[in-house]
Amino acid sequence: MTVTPTTLPGGTWTSGGFTVTKFGYGAMQLAGPGVMGPPADHDGAVAVLREAVDLGITHIDTSAAYGPFVTNQLIREALHPYPDGLHIVTKVGANRDAQGGWPPARKPDELRRQVEENLETLGLDVLDLVNLRLGDAAGPVAGSIAEAFETLAGLQQQGRIRHLGMSNATAEQVAEAQQIAPIVCVQNMYNLAHRHDDELIDRLARENIAYVPFFPLGGFSPLQSSVLSAVATRLNPPPMAVALAWLLQRSPNILLFPGTWSVADLWENLVGAAITLSASDLAALDGIAV
Ligand SMILES: NC(=O)c1ccc[n+]([C@@H]2O[C@H](COP(=O)([O-])OP(=O)(O)OC[C@H]3O[C@@H](n4cnc5c(N)ncnc54)[C@H](OP(=O)(O)O)[C@@H]3O)[C@@H](O)[C@H]2O)c1
Repeated sequence: MTVTPTTLPGGTWTSGGFTVTKFGYGAMQLAGPGVMGPPADHDGAVAVLREAVDLGITHIDTSAAYGPFVTNQLIREALHPYPDGLHIVTKVGANRDAQGGWPPARKPDELRRQVEENLETLGLDVLDLVNLRLGDAAGPVAGSIAEAFETLAGLQQQGRIRHLGMSNATAEQVAEAQQIAPIVCVQNMYNLAHRHDDELIDRLARENIAYVPFFPLGGFSPLQSSVLSAVATRLNPPPMAVALAWLLQRSPNILLFPGTWSVADLWENLVGAAITLSASDLAALDGIAV
């Protein structure tokens, strides 16, 4: 099978001058256990990153907080000098503590430091897209984001960042950010079983803003559903790939960036996500959400 950016599942997406393949790759779990420290298999991590780019994927998601610095350093080692058209998406807004926690770090000087850390560890002069990560591990937390987002908008004006996005954000926080500067994406938790953002996705689709679901396969608790397994058994791709196909068909503004350690799973996801689900399959899968 020959794969190019235009034949990857979903083709490409453009928003505010930012163009990526809808099928991307999320690098978070390439760090050690708990997203701390070096990878268990350094060469395997480098290999899967190179395979992703060889397959035509132009969207890789990372953060200096992963490791910390581990996934950025792996990406740099595997892919620098970066091929034209590859977009490495980062996020700022949290530190790591000695216990592996993610304490918020959203004061202006903390955000500026994280942007510089991402630039340095990735070996870049400008970050393509920076998401302001809000909330905590339990999800979004309401509250004004003005000071933090204005800081990122200032860094954008200074040429350190090309595009801005939001992560783990409420719909109100997304709207507040849009009053300050244009955003090209929102990266929130969403998958077949967790559909709190249905309304937000539809609104962003009308505004041509990408919605990038993190934990598209359930993250650290992979999706498990007898309905998903039954649809997958009938259609042949494995359940994880069917879950990705469902996301692609859920809305045209949804981008995928499933994580995997395995080149075989990367291929499986990529081939399987391209299947077209019938109306009855979609209805069955829609019924999974709690
Ligand atoms: N903005 C935020 O706050 C935030 C939070 C969390 C994550 N993220 C981003 O979201 C990205 C994706 O999240 P994630 O990687 O944690 O979760 P995920 O994509 O939902 O799931 C990854 C898990 O699914 C497994 N998997 C993948 N393909 C599979 C297949 N075909 N068959 C069976 N298992 C399969 C992987 O195992 P194998 O390695 O064995 O394939 C891995 O354990 C991250 O890389 C990160 O960049 C952002």
